[in-house]
Amino acid sequence: MAAAGRVKVGIIGSGFEADIHAESFRIMPDAAEVVAIASPTAGHAARLAERYGIPRVFTDYREMLREPDIEMVTITAPNSLHAQMTVDIANAGKHVVCEKPLCMTLDEADLMIETCKQRGVLLLYAEELYFTPKYVKAKEMADQGAFGKVYLVKQSEKHFGPHADWFWDVEQSGGGVFMDMGCHGIAFCHWFLGRPAIKSVYCQMATHVYGDKTRGEDDVICVIEFANGATGLVEDSWARRGGMQDRIEVHGSEGLTLADLHMGNALPTYSEHGYGYAVEKAPTTKGWTWPVFEELWNYGFPQEMHHFARCVRGAEEPQATGEDGRIVMEALYAGYHSAGTGRKVALPFRPEGVRIPIDLWKPKQQ
Ligand SMILES: NC(=O)c1ccc[n+]([C@@H]2O[C@H](COP(=O)([O-])OP(=O)(O)OC[C@H]3O[C@@H](n4cnc5c(N)ncnc54)[C@H](O)[C@@H]3O)[C@@H](O)[C@H]2O)c1
Repeated sequence: MAAAGRVKVGIIGSGFEADIHAESFRIMPDAAEVVAIASPTAGHAARLAERYGIPRVFTDYREMLREPDIEMVTITAPNSLHAQMTVDIANAGKHVVCEKPLCMTLDEADLMIETCKQRGVLLLYAEELYFTPKYVKAKEMADQGAFGKVYLVKQSEKHFGPHADWFWDVEQSGGGVFMDMGCHGIAFCHWFLGRPAIKSVYCQMATHVYGDKTRGEDDVICVIEFANGATGLVEDSWARRGGMQDRIEVHGSEGLTLADLHMGNALPTYSEHGYGYAVEKAPTTKGWTWPVFEELWNYGFPQEMHHFARCVRGAEEPQATGEDGRIVMEALYAGYHSAGTGRKVALPFRPEGVRIPIDLWKPKQQ
């Protein structure tokens, strides 16, 4: 008999994104409940468990996978762990929600997709921009023909660098800001345009600020040529001062729309003293800041997790899958290779022996 009721969820990881997943399930509680959390940093996991009323805490995620009632597991661990965790979760017969970027290599992506298929479980790719209300609205208007033929879609995310140390270590992250945030922009443009094939990718990248911390790039511009004739422009930076920016532009033959995720959901605020909670990626709350209200909802995280739980129950068709993550991974490969060669790179692009994507830009000096 098919399972019913709320989907029982386990979370792997207890850092930044684990908190977002737990909070998202709390905000939209009717489809799922978090019953366990697993992280080697036991203290952090216990703190999250206490805050969200999660009854079971594990230090080894493989132990959590032995719990028979857990149906769906979300991965919020560093990128280098996504593939092995996905395989382990699928082999335990549980559905997988994997944070972006899907993994480190195309070989890993293929293995993840194949294993989940064989085990009969869903591989759900956590790209929240498919659920971001402002961006969904822009897509609905475009799909109704409001802008005529859409020929240019831009997505940009910029701030002053990541919150956790592992992002600087390309062995764990796979690259710099292009791996971290370019994956959002590529996925966004592809999804927005109705998932046309990607014909080519051109990228320019550099390390302007963090050369002493990482081999990764901290600034990138990426131009994507789609088979339907449209262009995607993805701009990302870890070098931007002044807080976080996330915005899109959509240009068509008969109109356009512009959306800034934070402006319009924020309170333009000036304070000489600062205030008690952090504004994401802003170095201070003194002076001018733009604190966002209902932040997770405005990003689309609760809607995303709710959708994934309903997919597990068969109530909705997955809108973000391992295949989407794989398409993004191929474009990431092409982007790094383009930056390394100074040339536009045509897809399909499947170089052999890639260990981590950034090696396609800057091969490691032995
Ligand atoms: N969708 C988004 O907008 C978004 C935002 C932030 C992060 N992410 C993604 O989420 C993932 C995690 O990023 P984060 O910002 O939460 O990092 P983080 O450093 O804040 O948290 C990582 C967590 O992984 C745990 N971890 C490390 N090794 C582990 C292991 N072997 N088993 C179980 N847990 C382990 C750590 O203890 C930590 O709790 C990354 O893939 C990142 O790209 C996505």
